[in-house]
Amino acid sequence: MTRRRVGLVALFGAALLALAAEPVAAQPSASTTVEQIWELNLNLLYVAIPITVLVEGILIYTVWRFRNQDEPLPTMENRRLEITWTVATAIILLFVGVASYQVLASPYVTAEAGAQADIQQENPEHIEVQAYRYGWSFYYNGSSFQDNAAATSTGTLRMPADREVRLRITSRDWLHAFHVPSLGLKSDAFPGQYNRLRTVPTEPGTYQLYCAEYCGSGHSKMLGEVVVMPPDEYDQWIADQQNQSSN
Ligand code: CUA
Repeated sequence: MTRRRVGLVALFGAALLALAAEPVAAQPSASTTVEQIWELNLNLLYVAIPITVLVEGILIYTVWRFRNQDEPLPTMENRRLEITWTVATAIILLFVGVASYQVLASPYVTAEAGAQADIQQENPEHIEVQAYRYGWSFYYNGSSFQDNAAATSTGTLRMPADREVRLRITSRDWLHAFHVPSLGLKSDAFPGQYNRLRTVPTEPGTYQLYCAEYCGSGHSKMLGEVVVMPPDEYDQWIADQQNQSSN
């Protein structure tokens, strides 16, 4: 009876999970990065739900069917059954592996250390992110990383929508981590090293930036904002910053 109850609880859990996933999937994706991550998540969920229902169904049926067996017998070896479930598991894991690798290997998802691959999209926007105890500074370099940034900002990272953004992330002092969940961006920030992320933000708006690596007493307050702006407004903002600094 207890096992049956456990089975029922698991079945309800799986159903709740499927319901909970629906509104999340309906959200507009704010960047190409988060879109890829959610697509993988949903694909894996669509595979996992039927497997969960099948396994729990068999479990519940078995518990119910044999509940009053007075003399339980051990299961005999069944080679065909064993080969079947081994092959089925291998196929499922292969699917999970291939699907995950396609997303994890994407330069729009995983941070790259060191040199960046060749530019594929025209006019990417290069921005350097510097973490420090306890805040964030941003250096806007335009079409490539240069010694002199076209603009700087602290606390608020501005990005143009519908344009490829390349971030190189570093730290001035200590271990931190750059994390913008709504845009699917996450990377460690190490002193003396650049980690690189790329994305194409698609929805103008304001997104929360967190430090995702415990870095001291101010860690929980090491927050920032990412403001994704329409491209023309972004260009205007950069131009205004340049004018201000040249005056
Ligand atoms: Cu910086 Cu935690």
